[in-house]
Amino acid sequence: MTEPLLSVRDLVVEFGTGRDVVRAVDGIDIAVYPGETVGIVGESGSGKTVAMLAVLGLLPRSARIVRGEALLDGKDLLTMRRRALRRIRGSRVGMVFQDPLTSLHPSYRVLDQVAEAVRVHHPELSAAKANERAIDVLDLVGVPEPRRRARQYPHQWSGGMRQRAVIAAAIANQPALLIADEPTTALDVTVQAQILDVLRDARELTRAACVLITHDLGVVAELAERVVVMYAGRVQEMGTAEQVFRDPRHPYTSGLLATLPRLEGPVLPLTPIPGQPPGPGERISGCPCRPRCAVGRDRAECASIRPEPRTLDGTGRRVACHCPHDAHSGTP
Ligand SMILES: Nc1ncnc2c1ncn2[C@@H]1O[C@H](COP(=O)(O)OP(=O)(O)OP(=O)(O)O)[C@@H](O)[C@H]1O
Ligand SMILES: [Mg+2]
Repeated sequence: MTEPLLSVRDLVVEFGTGRDVVRAVDGIDIAVYPGETVGIVGESGSGKTVAMLAVLGLLPRSARIVRGEALLDGKDLLTMRRRALRRIRGSRVGMVFQDPLTSLHPSYRVLDQVAEAVRVHHPELSAAKANERAIDVLDLVGVPEPRRRARQYPHQWSGGMRQRAVIAAAIANQPALLIADEPTTALDVTVQAQILDVLRDARELTRAACVLITHDLGVVAELAERVVVMYAGRVQEMGTAEQVFRDPRHPYTSGLLATLPRLEGPVLPLTPIPGQPPGPGERISGCPCRPRCAVGRDRAECASIRPEPRTLDGTGRRVACHCPHDAHSGTP
């Protein structure tokens, strides 16, 4: 079997100190294999962003990596020197975040910013060559008239166009891994669909592996080969998209899927998962999903022992649950 490109192991990230410690990421294991797209889904606050910021060395100062490793090409990003990590960001790993305005500097022309992304990692290129490369990638991600438009400033571009520019910068150096955190959330629905197409094309052109963080299960179903479901800083279920969407074993995953609008069949009211995720810093004994779980709410084991992810059916699917659903039954 091929080695993972990125292997995150037992990653724990906390904010704050003493009694105010918030454990945002609580011991996650995620592997990303070359060329595959892994979707990370989960409600707000489940630790998706913090996990990837940790991997990229971009955590705010108030965060602390308690333990874990994140191996890329066999090297641990978490212990790497800042300079070495900077070399990797933007070359081996490209990033696309939710709000393109925070990724683009308002007072530089788009061309300069994409060309800069190229030159940082290829200082041997002349300015003219870097500009040409930038215009090529802008063309690739569907910016019309890239030669003319690239000379404009970000505020002269629409949100969708700006996100194209960010994707262009992210793929300009042919990364092996693309990390996209809510890349379409700030955009309207039509533009969202376009940006997803751009991402899909970018992925195919670069053959990069992709970590796609989103609330949108529909997007994940469309783009990801494997899916990670996070809740309360932990991985609750992980498997192929087929396994997770067609035959979820974790009651939390089924709850999440029930919130999805359906295109076919009768229009059913959307069912939110009852209850709230644990508050920041809330101490949890037992399974973090229990207060919101119809299966485990009254089970003593679920109240007292925190379930560790385990492999269920010899197919690589992992589930952190004491009483997972049986295969294809949808019920325990
Ligand atoms: N700068 C910060 N200071 C303190 N706590 C933080 C900070 N950033 C994140 N957290 C905490 O870390 C937890 C995980 O946050 P994170 O942003 O990773 O969630 P998320 O899954 O990306 O949510 P969303 O879907 O809303 O983007 C949250 O409970 C939040 O309270
Ligand atoms: Mg987030």
